[in-house]
Amino acid sequence: MTKNIIETKNLTKIYGEQKVVDNVNLHVQKGRIYGLLGRNGAGKTTIMKMILGLTTTNSGEITVFGNSITGNEKLIYPRIGAIIETPGFYPNLTGTENLEIFAKLRGTAKPDAVKHALEIVGLPYKDKKVFSKYSLGMKQRLGIANAILHEPELLILDEPTNGLDPIGIAEVRKFIRNLCNERGITILISSHILSEIALLADDIGIIHNGVLLEENSLAHLQKMNDKYVQLEVSDTARAAVILEQKLGISEYSVQADNILRIYKAHIDMALVNKTLMLENISVISSQLCNDTLEDYFKKITGGEGIA
Ligand SMILES: Nc1ncnc2c1ncn2[C@@H]1O[C@H](COP(=O)(O)OP(=O)(O)O)[C@@H](O)[C@H]1O
Ligand SMILES: [Mg+2]
Repeated sequence: MTKNIIETKNLTKIYGEQKVVDNVNLHVQKGRIYGLLGRNGAGKTTIMKMILGLTTTNSGEITVFGNSITGNEKLIYPRIGAIIETPGFYPNLTGTENLEIFAKLRGTAKPDAVKHALEIVGLPYKDKKVFSKYSLGMKQRLGIANAILHEPELLILDEPTNGLDPIGIAEVRKFIRNLCNERGITILISSHILSEIALLADDIGIIHNGVLLEENSLAHLQKMNDKYVQLEVSDTARAAVILEQKLGISEYSVQADNILRIYKAHIDMALVNKTLMLENISVISSQLCNDTLEDYFKKITGGEGIA
């Protein structure tokens, strides 16, 4: 059984007249990286803020670690690390000094917590450089170090690679992956960049205008968008039965308008045609197709796409 570390039920947030989060049912599974993907303004930050209790909900439920967040704040929030927008660090202190203050404030960290967290994100310990002199990449890393100081079981990262260069993005991706694989930390991460999420996440939720349009494993999404043969037939329901029963093909889907897709690039089309025709199903057309994930996202977000 898969265990959900975060679950939302019909989560809704209204600003003014606008439903910026619209009946969202999110499922973040234990020990996995969940990528929340959506354009700017889609509702990603608002969802994360609601999960963290930083903003109220209009309706719906949020469960974290199996408990409703309402009334269980003291139990839940010490077990979460998060960065939402820019963390407030002191500009005239070094990274180490900043983290030591946060560690003390939380009062939970082990003696070498700061050193350890800096090591994970690849920042020097007891370096002389003050925060205001940090590059954007270093600031982002310090933010993540701060979020993992208390060894949380769940990490919520809102666009942690925003504004980083490609090398910086790759490095951040690597240690986020390590946090998940080596420490078993469950991670909810958001991004507006498809390629970034596709390289990091195990599961993807696509949010568009506040609506969660799709939620699935990356592996499944990739498979769905792999090579397939698209058939236009006179009767999809009967064709499907024949594919399964006479040809042993089970990886197919029935689309709208007499279209059926077989997710297998190498099939004997002559045999498929012949078998269907013998059952009085006409094959109007057949073609080999190959959608990319990007094509898919464009399609489900109504042509606008993501990134
Ligand atoms: N405090 C607020 N007051 C009014 N509208 C807001 C507020 N915060 C966010 N919004 C609106 O809610 C929508 C979703 O925003 P947000 O969750 O920040 O999206 P994302 O993080 O995906 O870019 C946007 O249209 C944004 O303008
Ligand atoms: Mg945002």
